[in-house]
Amino acid sequence: MKAIRIHKYGGPEVLTYEDAPRPEHGEDDVLIRVHAAGVNPADWQIRSGKRGVLEEPFSMTLGFDVSGVVEATGSNVRHFEVGDAVYGMLPGAYAEYVAGPAASVAHKPRCLDHIQAAAMPVIALTAWQALFDAGELSAGQTVLIQAAAGGVGHIAVQLAKWKGARVIGTASARNEDFLREIGVDEFIDYRTTRFEDVVRDVDVVLDAVVRDADDDIDVLAGETLERSWSVLKKNGVLVSICTRPSPEAAAEHGVRGKYILAKSNAAQLTEIAGLVDAGHVKPTIAAVLGLKDARKAHELSQTGHTRGKIVLRI
Ligand SMILES: NC(=O)c1ccc[n+]([C@@H]2O[C@H](COP(=O)([O-])OP(=O)(O)OC[C@H]3O[C@@H](n4cnc5c(N)ncnc54)[C@H](OP(=O)(O)O)[C@@H]3O)[C@@H](O)[C@H]2O)c1
Repeated sequence: MKAIRIHKYGGPEVLTYEDAPRPEHGEDDVLIRVHAAGVNPADWQIRSGKRGVLEEPFSMTLGFDVSGVVEATGSNVRHFEVGDAVYGMLPGAYAEYVAGPAASVAHKPRCLDHIQAAAMPVIALTAWQALFDAGELSAGQTVLIQAAAGGVGHIAVQLAKWKGARVIGTASARNEDFLREIGVDEFIDYRTTRFEDVVRDVDVVLDAVVRDADDDIDVLAGETLERSWSVLKKNGVLVSICTRPSPEAAAEHGVRGKYILAKSNAAQLTEIAGLVDAGHVKPTIAAVLGLKDARKAHELSQTGHTRGKIVLRI
């Protein structure tokens, strides 16, 4: 099969479109014929070695977001049949086939095509686990979503609105209309307004400002996480998906700080698919590129200014 692999850490040029062995599937696994793979900042953070632990040379197929069709099932798999359209978070998604635990995938939302469905798993699971599991966001509360127009942010906005929360979102001015359309109640342009000057007493802050992008936007904005403590009400919670908040800083402000690393969760993916099909949540696609164009996709994502999601068609 064809895949995008790396054999050493580095810039987009280390991404190689090449032949790779088709993955084997175990008795609890499904083998998926991949139709589309989502691109996440984690992919280029791994590619560059920022999260690297492997000794070079090695072979690694990148990608975590997959939408496709079940090609084969392991002997213990009960919930899927060959031919089912599925989506999920599985390593090795930049390839024609991927294999992984059936417990990590769910049936694809019916109203999304594979491109749209491949946009969802990582960002929707992250937004869900940050807002609802860690943040315990409930109806009537207020949430500040930092980087509301990005992959995680734009799904977090829609999930928070579905929950019945009031949503404040930060982005640059070009994203204001987009964010109001998807439900943001209050928009803040981080380039012209310091959010801590205009926001008070929120229940939850979700910090999703992309780290390590080519454009040093977080420096321009100041340290978003550090500046977020003061906008929380007493005992409010700051959830970061990027940097581990300091417990001392949280205690000093009388609030809580949490970090989450998104985990695969088929039950949540099934619930999210239901919300998508009911019209509550929809991914925005910034660009669709071919598998061969993964380098271009990484360059785009690395700017740190994606609106919604970049997806590879396979
Ligand atoms: N822990 C986890 O499990 C987990 C899971 C997923 C993602 N992440 C991490 O979370 C971060 C975000 O991921 P993503 O997929 O949402 O990234 P993304 O889609 O690339 O985010 C791009 C967005 O960030 C916005 N932005 C950049 N600087 C900003 C600032 N200072 N204030 C407000 N908005 C700003 C941009 O808006 P403008 O264009 O308007 O500037 C753009 O819409 C990444 O660092 C990623 O690695 C972690």
